[in-house]
Amino acid sequence: MPYLFTPKSACITQCAQPLRFTVRPNNPILFHYISGVLILFFFRLFFLLSVVNEYVFMVQARGIQIRENVKNIGAQVLEQVVRGAYSINGTDYSYDFNFSESDALPTTYLPEGFTYLPSQVCPERLPTMKGRLEVNMSEISLEEVERSLLEGKPNIVPGGYWKPTDCLPRWKVAILVPFRNRHEHLPILLRHLVPVLQKQRLQFAFYIIEQAGTEPFNRAMLFNVGYKEAMKDLNWDCLIFHDVDHLMENDRNYYGCTDMPRHFAVKLDKYSYMLPYNEFFGGVSGLMVKQFKKINGFPNAFWGWGGEDDDLWNRVQFANYTVSRPHGDLGRYMSIPHHHRGEVQFLGRYSLLRHSKERQKVDGLNNLNYSPLVSRMPLYTNITVSLSRKLAPIADY
Ligand SMILES: *[C@@H]1O[C@H](CO)[C@@H](O)[C@H](O)[C@H]1NC(C)=O
Ligand SMILES: *[C@@H]1O[C@H](CO)[C@@H](O)[C@H](O)[C@H]1NC(C)=O
Ligand SMILES: *[C@@H]1O[C@H](CO)[C@@H](O)[C@H](O)[C@H]1NC(C)=O
Ligand SMILES: *[C@@H]1O[C@H](CO)[C@@H](O)[C@H](O)[C@H]1NC(C)=O
Ligand SMILES: *[C@@H]1O[C@H](CO)[C@@H](O)[C@H](O)[C@H]1NC(C)=O
Repeated sequence: MPYLFTPKSACITQCAQPLRFTVRPNNPILFHYISGVLILFFFRLFFLLSVVNEYVFMVQARGIQIRENVKNIGAQVLEQVVRGAYSINGTDYSYDFNFSESDALPTTYLPEGFTYLPSQVCPERLPTMKGRLEVNMSEISLEEVERSLLEGKPNIVPGGYWKPTDCLPRWKVAILVPFRNRHEHLPILLRHLVPVLQKQRLQFAFYIIEQAGTEPFNRAMLFNVGYKEAMKDLNWDCLIFHDVDHLMENDRNYYGCTDMPRHFAVKLDKYSYMLPYNEFFGGVSGLMVKQFKKINGFPNAFWGWGGEDDDLWNRVQFANYTVSRPHGDLGRYMSIPHHHRGEVQFLGRYSLLRHSKERQKVDGLNNLNYSPLVSRMPLYTNITVSLSRKLAPIADY
């Protein structure tokens, strides 16, 4: 909380000391902040003195990232102190530093035994949303997941469409999952996420967009294809961009569109449950359909992994949106361990990111062509598409 600092800042003005500036060793945040600023300053200087080339840009980006990490580590340490002082038992209402946070803390969840009215909009904080979830990463076949989710419950119709019957869904959510060569991950995700979305009383369907062909994986373009195909089905109002290997750890991480654009996967186990840098927008994110249209969707020019989520972040900023994030432990995720199996990294991302703004108008939903193969499975729609550069023509930057 910012007011934790007030005694010290008050002293700077009130105490009759000359303004001789000393870094107090017992204030790690201030120390890290100042050293972060200095590091950034030297990187800037270095940047100005050097030839503007790819290498320098990468070094600078790295510098910003290190500074953000240091800031976050400082915040984590302080969080521990705050928790200790207030003896909060670290659950859903735990204290959090509101980096890019704009929504209010959740207050109360409805009581057990609450009855819905079929004529009324479903509440957002349902008694069925209990908080901490067990994450089961053991492998399972798709057929077995279908059997357990569909048995005696005919209300999931082919394509994986579901909507609540005891109240009117607040949001119509299309879950878009880009896919290639991860057949063992998909059933794990569906087993985990379908019951959560049902508990959250959202109307939803899953779209698995599989990239065929031999071009490098293009996560962003797959999302654009998924969006266009999903909108042919139904008038969705909310889009969730979901990696197949991310499993939420808290069912109060509500996948409706409140306060969008939203970054859901804030704390990943693979990053020690810390945000790697403030502009991180990967893993699981969401936008309202009208917002996604306004930013011209994802870029199509990112071939291979990395960078496309940073470009989406930039697009959202240029449209003057503020990204919101779930509080505290609500944004925790576990990821199914794997390697970027044969998928190449996109090395050209830094030079593309420098031109995010110019490219936003010409690369995205408006320059996209594709011919999909669509089939309805019991729990999802399979959109298979072969991608290549000539399907999204763009003048070179
Ligand atoms: C925290 O947990 C301890 C032991 O589990 C319990 O005795 C205490 O009442 C809890 N405190 C709060 C604020 O919930
Ligand atoms: C946290 O939120 C408060 C109130 O909304 C705001 O005044 C403050 O600047 C925020 N802090 C950060 C670090 O974003
Ligand atoms: C995980 O899932 C498998 C297969 O569905 C099941 O046999 C096992 O009991 C589950 N484990 C836990 C801890 O729920
Ligand atoms: C964003 O805000 C800036 C400054 O207020 C304004 O100049 C710009 O036109 C806005 N952009 C959009 C897309 O609304
Ligand atoms: C999707 O359909 C394609 C073509 O029919 C098939 O090869 C692929 O295995 C399917 N993928 C999934 C995830 O169902």
